[in-house]
Amino acid sequence: MSAPTRSASSAALDLIAGDMAEVDKVISARLDTGVPLVSQVSRYIIAAGGKRLRPALLLLMCGALGYTGEQRFNLAAVVEFIHTATLLHDDVVDESTMRRGRPTANEFFGNAASVLVGDFLYSRAFQMMLDSRDMRVMEILADATNVIAEGEVLQLMNMGDASLDETAYLHVIRSKTAKLFEASTQLAAVLAGVPPDMEAACARYGQALGTAFQVVDDVLDYAGDAAETGKNVGDDLREGKTTLPLILAMQRGRPEQAELVRSAIQQGDVSRLPQLIAVVKETGALDATRVAAAAEAQRAIDALAMLPANSFTEGLLQLAAQLLERRA
Ligand code: IPE
Ligand code: IPE
Ligand code: MG
Ligand code: MG
Repeated sequence: MSAPTRSASSAALDLIAGDMAEVDKVISARLDTGVPLVSQVSRYIIAAGGKRLRPALLLLMCGALGYTGEQRFNLAAVVEFIHTATLLHDDVVDESTMRRGRPTANEFFGNAASVLVGDFLYSRAFQMMLDSRDMRVMEILADATNVIAEGEVLQLMNMGDASLDETAYLHVIRSKTAKLFEASTQLAAVLAGVPPDMEAACARYGQALGTAFQVVDDVLDYAGDAAETGKNVGDDLREGKTTLPLILAMQRGRPEQAELVRSAIQQGDVSRLPQLIAVVKETGALDATRVAAAAEAQRAIDALAMLPANSFTEGLLQLAAQLLERRA
C-alpha cells in the first residue's frame, strides 16, 4: 500500500505508537482463558484489527495531560474490550454479516457464541478496571456500559419508526456510541487528576467527537464503500433504522421522495437502497448530515481550548478535524 503523504491523523497516532503496542500486549494477555471457544471467538474479532480509536483517544488525552502511569494501558484495553463486546452483541442484533472486512463472529461462529463471548469480554473488562483501585474510574465505566445498553435498546424500540426526529436520533447515538468515547477521554482526566472543569472539557471532547463519528458512520452506510469500511452498505435501511440522512431527506424532499423514504424505513426494504441513495444525495440530505457532523467535530475542537498546548492536544485536534474525511 502506498502512502504518498502522511496524514495528520497518522501523525497523531504516531505519537502513541509505542503506547498502543503496550495496550496490544495487555489485550492479548487478558484474553487468556481455559475455554477454547472464548479465545477463538475473541481473538477472531480482535485480530481482525479495527481502528482502536477509543484506546487511542484515551492515550492521546493522557499525553495531553502529562499522565504517564501504567494504568493507562490497562484502561485503554478495558475500553477496547467494552467496545468489542458491544460489537459482538450489536452484530447479532443487527443481523450483520460483515465487519472489519470479514464475516462477523455471528456469521462465522453463530449467535450463541457471539453473545456469550461478548459477555466474557464485558466481565473481563470489569475485572480489569478493579486494577485501578479507583471508584471514579469504576463509576465512569459502569455508567458508560449501562448507557450504551440503554442506547441499543432504545434504538431497537425505534426500529421502523419513520417519525423519529433529530433530537431522538441524537439521544440514541450519544448513548450507544458517544458515551464510550466520552468515558475514554474522561478516564484520562481522572488518571491525571486534573481539576473538575478540565475533566469536563475532556469528557466534552470525547462526547462531541463520538457523536460526529457516529453521524459520519451513518453517512457511510449510504455513501461508503464496503471495501473500505469493512461493513455492508445498506445495513441501516435493512433494519428500518431512521438515521440522520433519512430524517433530513424526508424534511427536504418532495412529497413523493419523503414517502419513498418513509415506506422504505417502515418496511426495512433494502431492495429500494439504490433509490434511497439517489434521494439522500439529490435532496442534499447527505451533505446536510455531513454539516451536522462538522458542527459536532467543531464542538470537540472547542473543548480542547482549555487543555495544555502540546503535540498530543494538537493530535486530538487533528483527529477531530479529519473525522469528516474518514472512509473507514
Ligand atoms: C463501530 O466502531 C461501531 C460504531 C460506533 C459505528 P468503529 O468504527 O470504531 O469500529 P472498529 O473498532 O474500528 O472496527
Ligand atoms: C454501533 O452501532 C454502536 C454499538 C456497537 C454500541 P451501529 O449498529 O450503527 O454500528 P455498525 O454499523 O454496526 O458498526
Ligand atoms: Mg450494527
Ligand atoms: Mg446497531
